[in-house]
Amino acid sequence: FGAFYAYLGTVSSTQDVLKNWALDGAVEGSVVLAERQEKGRGRRGRAWASEPGHSLTFSVLLRPRLPLSSLPLLPLAAGLALCEACGVGGLKWPNDLLSPDGRKLAGVLLEAQVSGEEVAYVLLGIGLNVHRAAGLPPEAAALEEFGAVSRVLVLARLLERLEVCYARLEADSQGLLRDYRAKSHTLGHQIRVQTPQGEIRGLATDIAPDGSLVVERSGQTHRIGAGDVQLVGV
Ligand code: BTN
Repeated sequence: FGAFYAYLGTVSSTQDVLKNWALDGAVEGSVVLAERQEKGRGRRGRAWASEPGHSLTFSVLLRPRLPLSSLPLLPLAAGLALCEACGVGGLKWPNDLLSPDGRKLAGVLLEAQVSGEEVAYVLLGIGLNVHRAAGLPPEAAALEEFGAVSRVLVLARLLERLEVCYARLEADSQGLLRDYRAKSHTLGHQIRVQTPQGEIRGLATDIAPDGSLVVERSGQTHRIGAGDVQLVGV
């Protein structure tokens, strides 16, 4: 990944720039990185702020040759890559990287263009706090709090791990899931999760082979495909 690469100053969102590249036929693994985004976006319509020089703010183009049913594993592969590249913390399902004390270090946004049963392309956006910016909220962490870091080296490692984890989706998805479970900050905890069907509370017990989160409560098992997880009672 990263053979075709743009390093930009200010953009609306790296997702938007990369989308135009995708429509122009850019190859898989193309990367758009920016210092500042005027309309940086996170999951569930939230805004994503990043301070120039302090974070890694970029998007990678994927053209998966995977069945549509494997697409939900893609966020987990991206989360695992992030965790392996940073070497600290754990994953909040599906793909937030949390510091050892539970603050958010990084987030992943996946936007897929699907036509029929085919995935035309996926825009994989990552925002990672590397240095601690003055405006970073207290519930967020930066990588440098856990040891000396260089943005360039983290970026190189991240692109390498993304490429490896992405290849494992096809070649070794069960092994990928095993490694993901081992990095999970969610499994084994009482959680509450907002789903499109309402709030579910219970014990997070597993990640199913399709990538969904398994939550148990009073003998009932729920499988959650998408949602926002919060730990309860910590
Ligand atoms: C989240 O945790 O909500 C996901 C945050 C993803 C932010 C990144 S920054 C690079 C890319 N461009 C965007 O506008 N968003 C993603």
